[in-house]
Amino acid sequence: MEKDNLILKEFLDNAFNLKSHLMEFFSMKECDLDGFLANAKMNLANLHPGEALSDVSDFYTDIVGDRHVADLATWHITSKDYIADTLKLQQRFSKNTVLDFGGGIGTHALANAMSTRVEHVFFVDINKTNRNFVEYRARELGVDKKITFCQSIKDTKMSKFDTIVCLDVLEHLADPASQIEIFNEIMKSNSIALFNWYFYKGEKNEYPFHIDDDQIIEKFFTTLQSNFLEVFHPILITTRAYKRIR
Ligand SMILES: C[S@@+](CC[C@H](N)C(=O)[O-])C[C@H]1O[C@@H](n2cnc3c(N)ncnc32)[C@H](O)[C@@H]1O
Repeated sequence: MEKDNLILKEFLDNAFNLKSHLMEFFSMKECDLDGFLANAKMNLANLHPGEALSDVSDFYTDIVGDRHVADLATWHITSKDYIADTLKLQQRFSKNTVLDFGGGIGTHALANAMSTRVEHVFFVDINKTNRNFVEYRARELGVDKKITFCQSIKDTKMSKFDTIVCLDVLEHLADPASQIEIFNEIMKSNSIALFNWYFYKGEKNEYPFHIDDDQIIEKFFTTLQSNFLEVFHPILITTRAYKRIR
C-alpha cells in the first residue's frame, strides 16, 4: 500500500520524470519543450489525412512520428489527476503478467512495472517511436528488466495474461470488437481487463482518428456484452474492469 502511494505521488509530482525524459530522448533544450508540447492535440489532428487514409494503422506507424508522444505527454501532464485515477484502478487489479496494449508514452506500463504485485509487463504499441521512448524511460527508472517491448501481441509469444490494460486505444482501431475478442482468448478465468473507449471525433473534429461508425460501435458493444462481465470498482472514471464470461 505504501509503495502504491509512493508510485502515485511520483506520478503526480513529475509524471515519472516525463519532461526530463522528453528532453533527453529527443535531444531538446528546456526552452524548446514548451513548443514541443504546445498545441500538440491540434498538431496531431492536423496530420490526419481524413477519408484518404485506407488503413487506420498506417496513421500510427507511418504518419504520427513523435507527434503522438507530444500529444500524450501534454495530456498526461495537464490531466494528471485523471491519469492518477487510472493508475489507482490498475493498482486494484494488476497482478502477475500484464499486457499493456497501445501503451503510448508508458505511464501505465511503468507504474505496473514498479508494482510488487506485477511480475512482468508486456508493452505492445504499433508505433516504434513510442516503443523506443518507453524503453528509454524504463531504463532511466530502473524497471527495464520487468518490461518487454513488442509491436504486436503475437510478438510477446505469450498465450495468456493475468491482466490486460487497454486504455484510450479501442477507438483508434478499425475493428475494436475483433480486438476484444482477441483479448478474451488470451485471458485466464480469473484475469482482469481494463478497458475504456471514446467513439467520438470531437465537437470540432479534434479527434479525426477516432472511430465513430454506428455499426462498428454496435458490433463492439454486442461483443463486449456477450463475452465479458463487468467487475465493480468505486473509482469515478469511465474505465471499466472486466472478467471473461466464458
Ligand atoms: C491515445 S494513445 C493511448 C496511450 C495510452 N494507453 C494512454 O492511455 O495514455 C493510443 C495508442 O495506441 C497505439 N495503437 C494504435 N493502434 C494500435 C494497434 N493496432 N496495435 C497496437 N497499438 C496501437 C498508438 O500508437 C498509441 O500509442
